[in-house]
Amino acid sequence: MARLMVVAAGMVLLAGCSAPPPQEAPQVQMPDRAAAADLGVAGTGFGDPLPGLGAAELAKFDVGKTEFTAPEEPGEGLGPVFNEASCVACHLGPDTAVGGTNQRLETRFGRTRADGTFDPMADFGGSLIQDQGIGFVSVPAGTFTFAGETVPPEATVRASRRTQPLFGLGLVDATPASTFETIAFLQSFLTPSTAGTPSIVPDPSNGGQPALGKFGWKAQVPSLFVFSGDAYLNEMGITTPLFPNENCPQGTCDHLQYNPALETPNDDGTGVVRFNDFMTFLGPPPRGSRNLVTDIGNAVAAAIGCLDCHAQTLRTGPNAVAALDRVYYHPFSDFLLHDMGSLGDGITQNQATGRLMRTQPLWGLRTQAKLLHDGRATTIGQAILAHDGQGASSREHFRRLDAFSRFVLIAFLESL
Ligand code: HEC
Ligand code: HEC
Repeated sequence: MARLMVVAAGMVLLAGCSAPPPQEAPQVQMPDRAAAADLGVAGTGFGDPLPGLGAAELAKFDVGKTEFTAPEEPGEGLGPVFNEASCVACHLGPDTAVGGTNQRLETRFGRTRADGTFDPMADFGGSLIQDQGIGFVSVPAGTFTFAGETVPPEATVRASRRTQPLFGLGLVDATPASTFETIAFLQSFLTPSTAGTPSIVPDPSNGGQPALGKFGWKAQVPSLFVFSGDAYLNEMGITTPLFPNENCPQGTCDHLQYNPALETPNDDGTGVVRFNDFMTFLGPPPRGSRNLVTDIGNAVAAAIGCLDCHAQTLRTGPNAVAALDRVYYHPFSDFLLHDMGSLGDGITQNQATGRLMRTQPLWGLRTQAKLLHDGRATTIGQAILAHDGQGASSREHFRRLDAFSRFVLIAFLESL
């Protein structure tokens, strides 16, 4: 019970750490997480806009959604190598909800250098594979056939990455970096053995200055705006002012002379703004039904350390958009990097070396048919049992739970 109190106190502290209003101080003593849970932004339906948006914001959401679903053509810049022709080709689901995931996997590769560091093998088109090519082209430079990339035999590391759902990420984007840094700091003395590390990455929207990475399995991208440009290039092959250079197919830049795209950059940046608008205003997943059983399960999750990393409540900073202005939300993630031991994917991106992975948010968990970065788990139990490294102690607590505690914990997780 003592541990429960500490966790609950930590949670409320974390929730308010960006700007704690003084009247909330007594809550630090209250282990009543059900009350705290009710403070959060509630999503309405999967793929719906954030509740409380104004007409102009809703209009931007709609324009952004149209762009997000529109397939591109080679003449507009698609390819020459790419993964899919639209964002929605991967970010779809459950059912027809735009912005989720259809669990599409993509492939990363690389190799370990003699000194033990990771080589992303850019000369071979790494570390991300674009698995489709635009095929046969006839252009002034001649004729050529663009094929999808493959993992070269020289690679010693190969990892799959599952498409992540995007619901509610506007709230995460609107949460100041200092909140996540404070969480990491508090973890370092409240729960030192599982403490997370902020992912510091270059921010191409700010001249490559260091920024806090929040997005992607390795928290390798600092904002939804940058992810928009990054994905436009790396998933679809569309260049923009932020990411002006085409990917060289399988690393061979000479072949770009056959690229049939008419304009350089392919998009003047409008597409990036629209994707960003759509994701900024995309609401969080609606919570499944809660009852006494799921609330007890929530307490079990706290007691065995799940919520030390899967932080229940965060709060956005001041924001010009009222629906994003200093609101609480429940992502069940600290968006920090953790050493996950054997669960790590072996790929290095910025400071996120092989075993470091970002805590995956658990909101919307009940709709995920595949779990973990490579989709290896098909049940919540399997996903928990794959936790290793800093997640090992929590995993062992889970393994030892009595039947009742395990039942309520799973009921809670299935209500997210
Ligand atoms: C071929 C499938 C595919 C396409 C197309 C695609 N994505 Fe993704 N998306 C992924 C995968 C896989 C990840 C996880 C990437 C990683 O961490 O390596 C991801 C992650 C993301 C994330 C981070 C989510 C999080 O939880 O941090 C954002 C934001 C995103 N995509 C936006 C977009 C946008 C915008 C587009 C269109 C321009 C797009 N994606 C197109 C597969 C895709
Ligand atoms: C040390 C931090 C940490 C702890 C403690 C922890 N997790 Fe995780 N969890 C992570 C990370 C990091 C991932 C993503 C790992 C990956 O896919 O490589 C993750 C992924 C998951 C996933 C898969 C989510 C998805 O959509 O793919 C589930 C489910 C999950 N955790 C549940 C739990 C539960 C339940 C507990 C407590 C028994 C727990 N976790 C404890 C860090 C943690």
